[in-house]
Amino acid sequence: MPTITRLEALEILDSRGRPTIQVTCHLDGGAVASAQVPSGASTGSAEALELRDRDPSRHRGLGCRLAVANVTGEIQAALAGMDLETQADLDAALIQLDGTPSKKRLGANAILGVSLAFCRATAHARGIPLFRHLAEVAGITDVRLPRPTVNLFSGGKHAGGQVAIQDVLVVPVAARTMDEALAHVAEVFHAAAALCSRKFGARNLVADEGGLAPAFPNAESMLGSAVEAIQDAGFRPGEDIAMAVDVASTHFFENGRYHLDGSSLDSAGMISLLDRWVTDYPVVSVEDGLSEDDWENWPELLRRLQGRALVLGDDLLCTNPVRIGRAVTNSAANALLLKVNQVGTLSESLAALRAARSAGWHLTISARSGETEDDWLADLATGWAGDHIKIGSITRSERLAKYNRLLAIEQTEALVLVGGASGKGPRWAGGRTACNLS
Ligand code: PGA
Ligand code: ZN
Repeated sequence: MPTITRLEALEILDSRGRPTIQVTCHLDGGAVASAQVPSGASTGSAEALELRDRDPSRHRGLGCRLAVANVTGEIQAALAGMDLETQADLDAALIQLDGTPSKKRLGANAILGVSLAFCRATAHARGIPLFRHLAEVAGITDVRLPRPTVNLFSGGKHAGGQVAIQDVLVVPVAARTMDEALAHVAEVFHAAAALCSRKFGARNLVADEGGLAPAFPNAESMLGSAVEAIQDAGFRPGEDIAMAVDVASTHFFENGRYHLDGSSLDSAGMISLLDRWVTDYPVVSVEDGLSEDDWENWPELLRRLQGRALVLGDDLLCTNPVRIGRAVTNSAANALLLKVNQVGTLSESLAALRAARSAGWHLTISARSGETEDDWLADLATGWAGDHIKIGSITRSERLAKYNRLLAIEQTEALVLVGGASGKGPRWAGGRTACNLS
């Protein structure tokens, strides 16, 4: 079994020009692999903590030299030469070495970099693609390509707050292959870009995740414009292309109220608004419809949307098995947004996945708004059999690295897109089929 002989680390820049880290792992058989770590902006308060240098004279305090030093210093000293049977052994050693619940001592960025680089190096050593190794680590035999949910319009923290809600996404529900899914989405994106210039006089500039971000007058106009773009591209909204929303409402929730479009709603008002959106638009997934602090009202949101749209938890759950357990017990959600850097190791992310799957939940595997050119997310979402993958838009190369890897996996490995054989199915639509979306 693999033994780490050396760990290297490098401070690099992410897609927002902020520092992050790359870790390289050397194994005793000669396998070497690197992995780059993403970083969020619209973060949940229960996320594991990235270690930043806090030196205001460099990268506004966001430098990652301390995290780099922890990898090449303390982590390497502890792990080099250690007998590591499995990924779980490596991750347990990292968790124990750090010793804090939030990973703030060594840094979740340092720890995740090692977890990912070790995983990839082990796949190299075994001579198999990363997604196959990840599937084996997870004990998943049912490997398939996740259906993409693709950012079309951006707002919130990713687009300077010009509108409160964060993303309106398109879901190519009728596509039977990844290739077809991305071709459909590209048509909608180009139609949306034309719509932005026609309606808002907006140049084709994009937000942090590559979505278009004109000055929408309100949140609902993002939804209406997405329907228009789908139609302009020649597709039937809900039948060929459905929609998803990341409301990211934690970030406009203050003093118990939701502040959007000049009004202030209580939780019941917010739930009614979301209910109406799901009725009036072909929305099959609602992410963070309520705030991470509004636990008591999530069950009512689920009750109202169940069977019509997924109730997807991001900030609420933070890929944390304990929070997922609480949400399962309280019937607060029915879908997990899985982001490995929210929790800090692959093994803890897998525990989160299992907690969600054993409750029968849907799984969306997600990138962060601050990304790198690394493509491991595509392998993770494939190997761990995500129903959806959420990467961002089909512009910006840190996003395309992952989409292009999905295309390569499809072509070289002949994998099937989830729901692809029939083109339609309940797993990606939260029980809602294309036929009853109108
Ligand atoms: P983040 O945004 O990476 O900035 O947290 C992504 C999301 O909210 O889904
Ligand atoms: Zn989110």
